[in-house]
Amino acid sequence: MADNRTILTMKGISKSFPGVKALTNVNFELRSGEIHCLMGENGAGKSTLIKVLTGVETLDTGEITLDGKSIRPNSPHNAQQLGISTVYQEVNLCSNLSVAENIFIGREPIRFGHIDWQEINKRSAVLLSRLNLKIDVTQPLERYSVAIQQMVAIARALDVSAKVLILDEPTSSLDAKEVEKLFDVMRKLKNDGMGIVFVTHFMDQVYAVSDRITVLRNGELVGTYNTAELSRVQLIAKMIGKEFDGFKEKTSKTDEYSGQKALETFLTVKGLGKQGSIHPFDLDVNKGEVLGFVGLLGSGRTEMARVLYGIDQPDTGDMMVRAKKAKFKSPADAIKSGMAFCPENRKTEGIIADLSVRENIILALQAKLGWNKYISRKKQEDFADKYIKLLNIKTAGPEQRVKNLSGGNQQKVILARWLLINPELLILDEPTRGIDIGTKAEIQKLILELSDQRMSVIFISSELDESLRCCSRMAVLRDRMKVAELSGEEIEEKTVMQTIAGV
Ligand SMILES: Nc1ncnc2c1ncn2[C@@H]1O[C@H](COP(=O)(O)OP(=O)(O)OP(=O)(O)O)[C@@H](O)[C@H]1O
Ligand SMILES: [Mg+2]
Repeated sequence: MADNRTILTMKGISKSFPGVKALTNVNFELRSGEIHCLMGENGAGKSTLIKVLTGVETLDTGEITLDGKSIRPNSPHNAQQLGISTVYQEVNLCSNLSVAENIFIGREPIRFGHIDWQEINKRSAVLLSRLNLKIDVTQPLERYSVAIQQMVAIARALDVSAKVLILDEPTSSLDAKEVEKLFDVMRKLKNDGMGIVFVTHFMDQVYAVSDRITVLRNGELVGTYNTAELSRVQLIAKMIGKEFDGFKEKTSKTDEYSGQKALETFLTVKGLGKQGSIHPFDLDVNKGEVLGFVGLLGSGRTEMARVLYGIDQPDTGDMMVRAKKAKFKSPADAIKSGMAFCPENRKTEGIIADLSVRENIILALQAKLGWNKYISRKKQEDFADKYIKLLNIKTAGPEQRVKNLSGGNQQKVILARWLLINPELLILDEPTRGIDIGTKAEIQKLILELSDQRMSVIFISSELDESLRCCSRMAVLRDRMKVAELSGEEIEEKTVMQTIAGV
C-alpha cells in the first residue's frame, strides 16, 4: 500500500541549450503512491526536466536522489535499470516491427541462446491485457491506430519493475474511453506504491487523476500544490504568470448562418467515398464557415478529410470546387484549388526536423508557387517573424532547428506553414493537440477571425468543447459514415453528444 514517502528529489536543476535556458534551478519532489502533474505552457521546460531525469539530456547543475541515493542517469536504459520508466512525448516505436517486438525490443528474453519468441508474444499479451487491450501482438504495429500504438508504448514502459513512471502527454491521441482505461492503470500502479509523473495539457485530466501539481514557467519553478487546494483558474494563472481572462465566448456565427446572409459554396461533394475507409457522403462547405467533423476517434473524420484533399483517391462520387467539377490526383491539385490541410500527426506528416523554423514555415508556400520560384531571404524572414509572433512560437529564433522546439511549439510551426499560403479552405486535423491552454484560446480566436475574413475551415477535434466553441455547422460521423449535419441551435453539447452516440 502507498506509504507516501518521498522517493525522488531533483534539486537545483539547470539545463541550457544554445541560446535557451530551458531550466533554471528547478526543484521537484515525487512521493511514492502519488500521481504528480507537471504543468506549464509550451516550452516551459516539462519535457526537458523529464529528459535530464531519464538520462536523455545531461544536466548542467543539480542533484537527483532516488530512494535516498544520489543518482545521475546517463542514458534511458540506465534510468530504466534504476527503476525510472518513461513514455516520451514523441513515441519512438518501429512501426514495421510487430507489437510484441516493440514491447521487448532491446531486452528480449533469451532461451538456449535464442530469442524466445513464444515467451515474448505471451508476455506481451499479458502486459497489454493489463491495459485491457486485446490485440494480435504478432501483427506489425503500423496496422493499429495511433491510440493503440500509444498503449503499446506504455506497455513497454511498464514491463520493468519500475518505481517511477513518467508519462509525457500520453493521452493526446487517446479517446475518452482509452483515457479512462489508462487512468485505471495509473491508479492501480499508484496504489502499488509507484510514483507517477504525468504531463498533459487537458485540465479535466489533471483534476481527474492527480494528487499534486508542479508548475513550471519559462524554465523556472513556480511551485508545487495539492490539486484539491488549487482551482483551475489559479492553476492557469500560475502557468501563464498573469490572470487568465478565459476563452473568448463563441461569436454569433451560428445566427449569421441561419439568418439572412446568402451562402456561397466553395466545395460541393456528392456520394464521395472510398471502400474500407469512408462510406459515400454528400457535403457542402460554404465560404467563411467553420465546419466541424465530429465523432469518436476512428469514426472516419480524418478519412473524410483525406478523400476531400486528394490524399486518398475516392472510388465513388463527384466533387465540385467553386461550382466547377474537380478531381484531385494528389494534394498538390487540392493546394492549387485553394485548399490546405494541416495534419494531426506532426511527426510523420508534418515537420522536417532538421530544417529551421523559417524553412519549415515557408515550405507549403514554396511548393504552391513552384520550387523554381525564388522567395527572397528577407521575405522568408518576415513571414517567419510574423508567425512566430502571431502564434507565440517559443524559439531562440527563426533559424533554430525545428527538432529543438518543444512539442507544442512544433505543432504551431505546422499551423503557420498552412496559414501562410492563405487558403480558401483550410482543413485542420487536431490543430491544438499538445498546445497549452492559453495558446489554445488564441488559436481558436484566430480561426474565428479567419472565417470572418471568408476563409472556410474544416475543423476536426477530439475535444468537443473546442468544436462547440468554433463551429457554425457540424458533420457528425459514426463508424466511418456521415450520419448527420447539425447547425444553429443544434450546436450544443447534449444534442451533439446524442447524435455522436446515435441515440
Ligand atoms: N535539444 C534542444 N536544443 C535547443 N533547445 C531546446 C532543445 N530541447 C528543448 N529546447 C528548448 O527548451 C525549452 C523547453 O522545452 P521543453 O521541450 O522542455 O518544453 P515543454 O514544457 O515540454 O513544452 P510542450 O508543452 O510544448 O511539450 C524550449 O524553449 C525548447 O525550444
Ligand atoms: Mg513537452
